[in-house]
Amino acid sequence: MDIRVAGGAKLRGTVITSGSKNAAIPILCASLLAKGKVLLRNVPRISDIDNLIEIIKKLNCQIVFKGHTILIDNTFLTYKPLLFEECRKIRGSYYLIGVFLTLFAKCEILLPGGCQIGSRPIDLHLKAFNDLGYDYHIENDVLSISKKQAIISKALKIEKKSVGASINALLGGLSLDELEIENGLFEPEGMDLINFLNKLGFNITQSDNMLIYMRKERDFKLVKHTIIPDRIEAMTYAVMGLLCGDITIKKVDTKVLKYPLDILIASGFKLKYSDNEIIVSNSYGKALNIKTDVYPLFPTDLQPLFAVLCVNTRGQSKIEETVFENRMHIYQDLINSGINCKVEKNIAIIEGSKNVVSQDYKAYDLRHGAALLILALIGNKFSTISNFEYVFRGYDDIIKKTIALGADIQML
Ligand code: UD1
Repeated sequence: MDIRVAGGAKLRGTVITSGSKNAAIPILCASLLAKGKVLLRNVPRISDIDNLIEIIKKLNCQIVFKGHTILIDNTFLTYKPLLFEECRKIRGSYYLIGVFLTLFAKCEILLPGGCQIGSRPIDLHLKAFNDLGYDYHIENDVLSISKKQAIISKALKIEKKSVGASINALLGGLSLDELEIENGLFEPEGMDLINFLNKLGFNITQSDNMLIYMRKERDFKLVKHTIIPDRIEAMTYAVMGLLCGDITIKKVDTKVLKYPLDILIASGFKLKYSDNEIIVSNSYGKALNIKTDVYPLFPTDLQPLFAVLCVNTRGQSKIEETVFENRMHIYQDLINSGINCKVEKNIAIIEGSKNVVSQDYKAYDLRHGAALLILALIGNKFSTISNFEYVFRGYDDIIKKTIALGADIQML
């Protein structure tokens, strides 16, 4: 899908943050573990969730999605090989593997897809399943996993920091009496999943670098859970405001954004925040020096957005990507738009600029697409962005929300 965006945008208004994509996806998968119905509130209306709902429906679950609330009843859930095209369309479908291992001790799934931000292997997930006593093989893009031995390790170590592998190791080990996961990376979205699992009756605690699960009897009629706000969406509108106007972002949890927010304040951008609100105004800051890392440090998802923000910095900013090696698409767009920018492998140097020459852009992943929208909004005339459907994977109503702030955007 293509969109056309008018440059020189002057935006003003309030944005309400939607629920977090990266929390909603594993939580919706984990709803299949409930003994009873689940009511999820603040679920973002994004295409990744729509695809996941299609998969879950095919497993004989009843699911109703109204507004931002999902009611799911898994009474008639049945095992089926997950050979549905929707599994390929989203990365997060891989959380169904862990859920299926806990429920059925086996899983067949079309290998998950996702954004083009690097090779994105799942070796750490497979290693965790192996440690839990499962064997796997991959043939024709289908991953098949089944139990190989009775002795199952009760203590796992995730060798490299990975949100996906840590969550999947936990989901896959919930049929055990006890499980310890060392060196897991859960970030705020994984912690929301853990809170949800505890509401389902699992008993999961965390101490230092260790996550501990102890089996408990479970019997619930209805479990209700509200998904946490999307920290990346909130910061997307903050960057938009710093480049294009005056925006107030509400219903955000700024506690989990302290690191990037404080970078902006230290750099001199006009930004204030309280517990649940961020207020920004178009402004300039000192050159930025950013390196992506795991939470609570600078999130990789914000890297392309901050690259565009560098247009409003004085001097040379430096951005280094350390999590996903291929998440560097935006820098060529900056160069094409007349911005002085050099990129070598995972490091980019960007110079502030007064002029952004509008272009025809193409989105390669979700955050790249959102960054392109902001770049188009500060262009000197009209821009188009193709492949914009990537952005709908993770941003709830982004076009409507941005138009409501005063942008001129047309879907072509
Ligand atoms: C999740 C998010 C994604 C976000 C990312 C970092 C979902 C569905 N996706 O991705 O939006 O950008 O966290 O916050 O929640 N790795 C391996 N082997 C593995 C797994 C990961 O080498 O088996 C590597 C990855 O290639 C990457 C790094 O570990 O370099 C971190 O990946 P991970 O934290 O697992 O990210 P995802 O769960 O894929």
